[in-house]
Amino acid sequence: MLRKVLELFAKNFKFSKFGFAKISPEIKNKRVFFEKISFKKNKDLLIKDKKDAGALKVQKEDLHKKYALYADLLLRSGYIKIAEELIGDKIYPYVVMHMLNNKKTKELIWHRDQYFHGKDFIGPKFKLYKLAIYLQDTNKDNGVTGFIPKFISPRFKNRYVDTIFAYLTSFLSIHPKLSIGEAVIFSGKVMHHRPRQKNNNLREAIIFSCTNNPNNLPNLKNDKKEFLNFFLKCKLDLGIN
Ligand SMILES: [Fe+2]
Repeated sequence: MLRKVLELFAKNFKFSKFGFAKISPEIKNKRVFFEKISFKKNKDLLIKDKKDAGALKVQKEDLHKKYALYADLLLRSGYIKIAEELIGDKIYPYVVMHMLNNKKTKELIWHRDQYFHGKDFIGPKFKLYKLAIYLQDTNKDNGVTGFIPKFISPRFKNRYVDTIFAYLTSFLSIHPKLSIGEAVIFSGKVMHHRPRQKNNNLREAIIFSCTNNPNNLPNLKNDKKEFLNFFLKCKLDLGIN
């Protein structure tokens, strides 16, 4: 019941309260488009990442070939514009991950991408957002990212306590129901997890690590091979501020 209320609430929520938000751009011929950039039929090109609970990932060389396409998708389809409006901040993606989960992929446990453990701050030292685009209809049964809303998730400065508390309160978590091409944007500080795949539908997603200013990444900013520069160039070409 409480969760139902939260879900209802989440439909009109503010990013600042929840720490995440759904992005629903209008894309023509979505299914055809996403089929073209999908790796579902090219699984031999994927490698299993044990550090990421066994998710299957597109290798660097193949990923690099698609940088211009990913940048164009983000900008031309309106993901960035919608996300910037939702969070009230600028978005500059700098790392891309293209991944698939199958039934063998395990749960990626509840965690935050940025947190304090004692006095140590773990994770990037600048504003971090993740933007995940899902390439098929995705829900809790095929591994949609789940969240514990920020306003009911106190941040403990001990990662173990923080994780245990997340499991104890996970009955209040929200797993968005997304249709093909929809995305979520979330803060690096929000508690999230990737549930284990329960049905036979693969979950394919393109996940971008983003920050709010390219000057946060001086090393990447000057390297033409980096995704950030593909993004900046695409922005210029499309005349987007
Ligand atoms: Fe994460």
